[in-house]
Amino acid sequence: MLLTDEAPALTRAIDPAFRRDILDGLSRSPKATPPIWFYDQRGSELFEAITNLPEYYPTRTETALLKTHGADFAAAVGKGRAVVEFGAGSARKTPHLLRAIAPAAYVPIDISGAFLQASSAELARGFPGLPVVPVVGDFNGPLDLPKAVDGLPRLGFFPGSTIGNMEPGAAVDLLRAMRRLLGRDAMLLIGMDRIKDRDRLVAAYDDAAGVTAAFNLNLIARINRELEGDLPIDGFAHRAIWNDDKARIEMHLEAVRPLHFHVAGQCFRMAAGETIHTESSHKYGARDERLLLRAGGWEPVGEWTDAEGLFSLVLAEAR
Ligand code: AVI
Repeated sequence: MLLTDEAPALTRAIDPAFRRDILDGLSRSPKATPPIWFYDQRGSELFEAITNLPEYYPTRTETALLKTHGADFAAAVGKGRAVVEFGAGSARKTPHLLRAIAPAAYVPIDISGAFLQASSAELARGFPGLPVVPVVGDFNGPLDLPKAVDGLPRLGFFPGSTIGNMEPGAAVDLLRAMRRLLGRDAMLLIGMDRIKDRDRLVAAYDDAAGVTAAFNLNLIARINRELEGDLPIDGFAHRAIWNDDKARIEMHLEAVRPLHFHVAGQCFRMAAGETIHTESSHKYGARDERLLLRAGGWEPVGEWTDAEGLFSLVLAEAR
């Protein structure tokens, strides 16, 4: 049962937020752009392809945890919650959770309206009778939950270690905002990627088939297409670097020669070897996970990890 009481996203020729973020990011030193701008149509398709790569362990490991521990989740969260998924995307992992816990409603939130409508409709077909109420919006900004879930206890679902794409301060702010949005008696099931062997981490973000490189370089194509850019795609190389001090994989676009280009009428230069930092993906130890959640207003009450300790799902209660 697909209920849509939210306005669909408008398609605009130039997204002013994209223009602002890219011009700001290219003007600072070192250059850095927010990772949300990877996800145009092509970027979303490439990300789907990444999740199936042999090197990219997070998706299949988290999916296996969801499949294996359904009875544990059901016992811990009880029946009749509204499941609110942050950044639902294709929502491929969600059916495993919904099947296990008998929820009262499902609210997927995603910035991409077209993607969200398609995945919500598919999910609603698989769960006849379950109210599915998609919300088009950016979960990093102010949001309201739909009236359809008023009065229901909520379970936030934030899989994929997307929290790791935020700086620690922003991650804490987001967890607090989720706590406020979900209300009293809420719970949160969150996926967090573990710190592990450096080579394994780097390979997951620099795969042999070059899909992650294409995902990173697609940002250049998007800037050229949407912001009247003339960046030479062959002037950039994909780099994935483990920053041990900050416990994160960093993705960069490195200038392979001195570059001079324009974006939205502004002129930029890059020296050979200079980079645009396009994404950070923080990794966590078990204590780091709990510390982050507590700082965000959540008390961890359960944790599930695979045998190799690659990835964990943490269940927490609103404090
Ligand atoms: C969406 N996010 C959790 C992914 C990650 O692993 O940080 C994005 C990604 N970037 C490159 N590969 C995957």
